[in-house]
Amino acid sequence: MSNGAYAAAYEQSISDPSAFWGKAAESIEWITPPEKVLDDSNPPFYRWFAGGTLNTCFNALDRHVRDGRGGQIALFYDSPVTGYRSEYTYGELLEQVSRFAGGLRNLGIEKGDRVVIYMPMVPEAVIAMLACARLGAIHSVVFGGFAPAELSARIEDAAPKVVVSASCGIEPNRTIPYKPMLDAGIERSTHKPERVVMLQRPQAEAEMTARDIDWNELMAGADPVDCVEVAATDPLYILYTSGTTGRPKGIVRDNGGHAVALRWSMENVYDVKPGEVWFTASDVGWVVGHSYIVYAPLLTGATTILYEGKPVGTPDAGAFWRIIAEYGAVAMFTAPTAYRAIKRDDPKAALLEGHDISHLRNVFLAGERLDPDTYHWANDVLHCEVVDNWWQTETGWPIAANLRGLDPMPIKPGSPSVRVPGYDVQVLDEYGQDAPRGQDGAIAIKLPLPPGTLPTLWQDDERYVTSYLSAYPGYYLTGDGGMIDEDGYVFVMGRTDDVLNVAGHRLSTGSIEAALAGHSAVAECAVIGVHDDFKGQIPRGLVVLKGGYDPDLEGEKIKKELIQRVRDEVGAVASLKQVDIVAALPKTRSGKILRKTMREIADGKVPSIPGTIEDVGVLDALTDTLKATQH
Ligand code: COA
Ligand code: AMP
Repeated sequence: MSNGAYAAAYEQSISDPSAFWGKAAESIEWITPPEKVLDDSNPPFYRWFAGGTLNTCFNALDRHVRDGRGGQIALFYDSPVTGYRSEYTYGELLEQVSRFAGGLRNLGIEKGDRVVIYMPMVPEAVIAMLACARLGAIHSVVFGGFAPAELSARIEDAAPKVVVSASCGIEPNRTIPYKPMLDAGIERSTHKPERVVMLQRPQAEAEMTARDIDWNELMAGADPVDCVEVAATDPLYILYTSGTTGRPKGIVRDNGGHAVALRWSMENVYDVKPGEVWFTASDVGWVVGHSYIVYAPLLTGATTILYEGKPVGTPDAGAFWRIIAEYGAVAMFTAPTAYRAIKRDDPKAALLEGHDISHLRNVFLAGERLDPDTYHWANDVLHCEVVDNWWQTETGWPIAANLRGLDPMPIKPGSPSVRVPGYDVQVLDEYGQDAPRGQDGAIAIKLPLPPGTLPTLWQDDERYVTSYLSAYPGYYLTGDGGMIDEDGYVFVMGRTDDVLNVAGHRLSTGSIEAALAGHSAVAECAVIGVHDDFKGQIPRGLVVLKGGYDPDLEGEKIKKELIQRVRDEVGAVASLKQVDIVAALPKTRSGKILRKTMREIADGKVPSIPGTIEDVGVLDALTDTLKATQH
């Protein structure tokens, strides 16, 4: 490991976090400077920058306009699915955001109110997020690919006063009307938002009701409003993420720690400076979109690209190269699956021809494991550094990375490199002791977590503690397994729980199981995530039918209905293609379904069979079915 800038920064961040983050906080403009950098008076709840006040939108927009960046492009919008492009200078974005904030205020939105944003990749989604930040309202963006069940669970928990949505999303092969899904999501929730702001898109306009108000009308009737002062510890947003159960976890992000950490990460991890162009191909509905399409680049005074398209098929596997070349991006960020898709369609990267991407310094990949094959391919064709980084919705920014702006170090394929300053990452054995270097275990982070990470779950301190902090007291459990090698490189091998990661999309086995269990023929079911060369992982369903249903006669029809149900309830992103009807599911004597054992069999590994298994015959009977993966 390097003994240079990284080692010094890491050491200080752990031994004297207040000094380290106190210095980083100078990059943010505060209304009242924090009284205390780290408030550790109430463990295991730690708070950063207590006593400080600021406004995140001010730091992302107003401040740059005041300091002379008003004419710089803040956001390029490029939408191959509609053939539309536009651009917003910092000055223009500020005008739109402060006006939309005025519109939200006219609808009664005040500091602390929740606003759900259910939108595709359009600039208005960014405008709505920043407008909430401006008012001190708490946004909760729901990924546009989620169907009513997922949407409704989020509306129920966040209890928004207003929902901001658009009439449709556009996939390469179809237009997806959002309004029917939104109406169904609200219908199912006991909480009813007062108003829905609807952005009408010409590809499919929504039918409006008395509750709905047109985006343009709201804007026309609104005056720009100023930033509202909020506490560093006030929530900026809630982003729901999938756990193992069907009930999503409301990850809370505060204002102060988030602004400091993201600003720091942009230069130190991603090596992007004010004025530079940066391209993140993800979705504003995921944490990568929140942090690295919206907040980090804007807090930095950089230019961000909002891309409404896919890595392939819109129109081809050269789409990313076109964007990088045309807008002059110095770095890009996406999920490894996107690169696997490009490699599959254009293995020799022939579509690079004609695109000058010589200014591209780094390609960052995260969201799932970066397999060495994909790493080598990208590295060979792009002639720039391909950099893995590991993190999660909960942390909001990288836990392990190769810090390109601080102290770039050699890359080891298969590893996201080293622990990022602020994260005291440890690998623990089954007894909760530090595992020796090179030995696999549970990856945990010694408390306190650094700024920008979750302080708790939305209105559920207890679940925060039970989900993350109780397995190993004093540590945050990441849910990932892996090891740290002799050189301090972290290797992340995958989730140790039942959370799914499908094409970089985090999904819950519990949600998919709930959709399957809702079918009238299903007595019992289990969903497992199995390895897939393209998407990393895909779900498989195993269902036991109720008495009276004949698998031979009705099985095929039921399977089709089940697959459709998951698309309709959870969303097509679940990518459930294979459901098998089985006689019984393997369980422990206390009734816990052995998903991990089934997953190991399906992946061709030696299964770990717990001694508490109820009936090993059930597992034996399933083995052939599990091994028959249809893809
Ligand atoms: N709204 C509605 N539907 C969506 C959607 C959205 N925002 N995003 C995806 N879907 C649909 C797709 O159209 C597809 O539907 P289909 O089954 O009818 O074909 C289904 O969900 C599965 O989508 P996906 O898993 O994305 O597979 P794909 O084959 O369509 O595309 C990739 C594969 C690699 C191109 C795509 O997964 C991708 O761009 N991945 C990048 C990962 C990423 O951005 N991760 C975010 C975290 S960094
Ligand atoms: P999400 O919360 O959607 O960002 O998903 C977080 C999960 O994705 C992590 O817990 C990991 O399982 C996985 N993940 C993200 N980045 C990486 C990476 N670089 N390497 C391995 N796994 C990753």
